[in-house]
Amino acid sequence: MKSEQGIKNMVKEKYGRIARQARETGAASCCGSGCGCSGDVAVMADDYFQKEGYVAEADLGLGCGIPTDVAVINPGDTVLDLGCGAGNDVFVARRIVGEEGVVIGVDMTEAMIEKANANKHKLGFQNVEFRLGEIESLPVGSNSVDVIISNCVLNLVPNKERAFAEIHRVLKPGGHFSISDIVLRGNLPIPILGAVEMYAGCVSGATQRDEYLELVEQAGFLQVSVKKEKPITLSDEILLEYLTQSELAQFRSSGAMIESITVYGEKT
Ligand SMILES: C[S@@+](CC[C@H](N)C(=O)[O-])C[C@H]1O[C@@H](n2cnc3c(N)ncnc32)[C@H](O)[C@@H]1O
Repeated sequence: MKSEQGIKNMVKEKYGRIARQARETGAASCCGSGCGCSGDVAVMADDYFQKEGYVAEADLGLGCGIPTDVAVINPGDTVLDLGCGAGNDVFVARRIVGEEGVVIGVDMTEAMIEKANANKHKLGFQNVEFRLGEIESLPVGSNSVDVIISNCVLNLVPNKERAFAEIHRVLKPGGHFSISDIVLRGNLPIPILGAVEMYAGCVSGATQRDEYLELVEQAGFLQVSVKKEKPITLSDEILLEYLTQSELAQFRSSGAMIESITVYGEKT
């Protein structure tokens, strides 16, 4: 496996390509053309069309849940979206916080931040801000955010302990988070774990579900609970790009699972 920096460069390269492709084609979604979390690996993204605040140009089909659904965001709140991409969840959160609130999106991929800013300027929003930066060292002040949201991103972060420490640092005491992410139950076959496309596709960087929840608690969060969950199915066709028929059969009978979960936790 690559170094942490090597992994991040690969992730940046992949999502930079997706953002540029969406800009060039004007496509609202990149699916079917070499997507990240929901195109070339499995369909993970939920349907946002009916969500208030939805902006089609910001929806690249890269999520694996709808974190705002269970985020308990109030009018006037300051909300932070980690790995905001082109701003899909930021614009939904903005509708909830209203004119008095603020929504900040952070992403490490320059082309994503450019696309998010283009969306923001088109809409003329004053209380939305996109910042280029890394989750492991957030460009956000300590104790300054009411609610953190994130959609299908932390599985891509090699140092998840550091990510949750940063989430804890920037939340106000009494603040909370709602994070949709991919987790595993049981072991994935080694060829899947080693595949670069499967890492960038939000599968092989995922942690075991129990370990993930333990990490959250170890970072100091309380009231930790899984608010939503759904299984993610990889097709035989995709798996056979990495596995032999007998490895595939073994995997199918092993009971191992890939899941999307939306986790909630509070900082005291
Ligand atoms: C699967 S996409 C999800 C984008 C967005 N949340 C959505 O649902 O449309 C993952 C995003 O996380 C960003 N990302 C991955 N690792 C990151 C890190 N360590 N720090 C900041 N952003 C990161 C990528 O650049 C990419 O835009």
